Amino acid sequence: MSNQPHHPLALDAALASFDALWSPRIVSRVNDYDVRIAKVAGEHVWHAHDDTDEFFLVLEGELFIALREEDGERTVRLPKGAAFTVPRGVEHKPSAPSGASLLLFEPTGTLTVGDRHEEVPDHVDATTGHALS
Ligand code: NI
Repeated sequence: MSNQPHHPLALDAALASFDALWSPRIVSRVNDYDVRIAKVAGEHVWHAHDDTDEFFLVLEGELFIALREEDGERTVRLPKGAAFTVPRGVEHKPSAPSGASLLLFEPTGTLTVGDRHEEVPDHVDATTGHALS
């Protein structure tokens, strides 16, 4: 993938081009940041990004993000069209019981499972994102 696409990107077509779950595709770069899309279903893993915030936008379906904050644990619900930024350092676990499609915005090189994480199950891809084919 070139650093910048030379044509407008159809997100629906990009989403239709892969099936892997919890395995983001990089659709564009904005300065030092990736714009990634992902299909998700079921549970991700508890993890934290020590040095960066992480932006989520729900394109389809419904996403839940469990958060371990100073005051305790809570879960935010993000229906289609909702956006949320997980602050750096906060342990979080996304889940989507009925499935969802997401757009993420985070620094290039950010690992999906963060800098600290629980054991990564087989259904979760520990990656810095894949090129869109
Ligand atoms: Ni994360």
